[in-house]
Amino acid sequence: MKLLKEKIESEGIVLSENVLKVDSFINHQMDPVLMKEIGLEFAERFKDEAITKILTIESSGIAPAIMTGLALNVPVIFARKRKSLTLTTDLYTATVYSFTKQESNEITVSNKYITKGDNVLIIDDFLANGQAALGLASLVEQASAKVSGIGILIEKSFQPGADDLIAKGYRLESLARIEALKEGKVQFAKDRQL
Ligand code: G4P
Ligand code: NA
Ligand code: NA
Repeated sequence: MKLLKEKIESEGIVLSENVLKVDSFINHQMDPVLMKEIGLEFAERFKDEAITKILTIESSGIAPAIMTGLALNVPVIFARKRKSLTLTTDLYTATVYSFTKQESNEITVSNKYITKGDNVLIIDDFLANGQAALGLASLVEQASAKVSGIGILIEKSFQPGADDLIAKGYRLESLARIEALKEGKVQFAKDRQL
């Protein structure tokens, strides 16, 4: 997606060979015009999937998810991150390990909001190792619903998440794919062609 890549080039800060800072338009301050365009782009890419729900994870996935839900006219659910759980009777739960942060989070969603027959589109801001996306997919599958696709704003293609999700059979659409973060510069990868 041209607009997103331009924004990354003009405002993204390469912190290291593994981490891109995008606090001025995604992770802290947010750009509503860009988010609106992202919502329209995901809606176009997934228009034939009969999406019934969008699922994301707090907090940075919420903005693009809500714009996608608006464009597709479907509800948006965000999984919550929790420390520990005592009562789990009405919740679906998955453990997400972050290699970047070296910590585990329990993510949860109420069984009220994803049900059998739902075609769920998973949305998130970054794809690195894929653990968040896999955790979200697990929540959907616990509900006997279908993961109809995964939409990512920024895929770090040099990390294993993207290949892993595709190998597991998920339809992955990433709006910007990064091949490398070298010498302070973002090198984009080609769009994935189906
Ligand atoms: P994974 O889910 O793909 O395995 O990713 P990982 O555990 O490495 O990601 C942990 C957190 O770091 C996530 O945010 C993710 O969005 C973020 N992240 C990963 N790589 C980058 C990067 O290069 N740049 C930036 N800015 N963020 C990155 P989170 O902890 O869930 O926080 P939130 O922002 O959604 O609240
Ligand atoms: Na995120
Ligand atoms: Na994040």
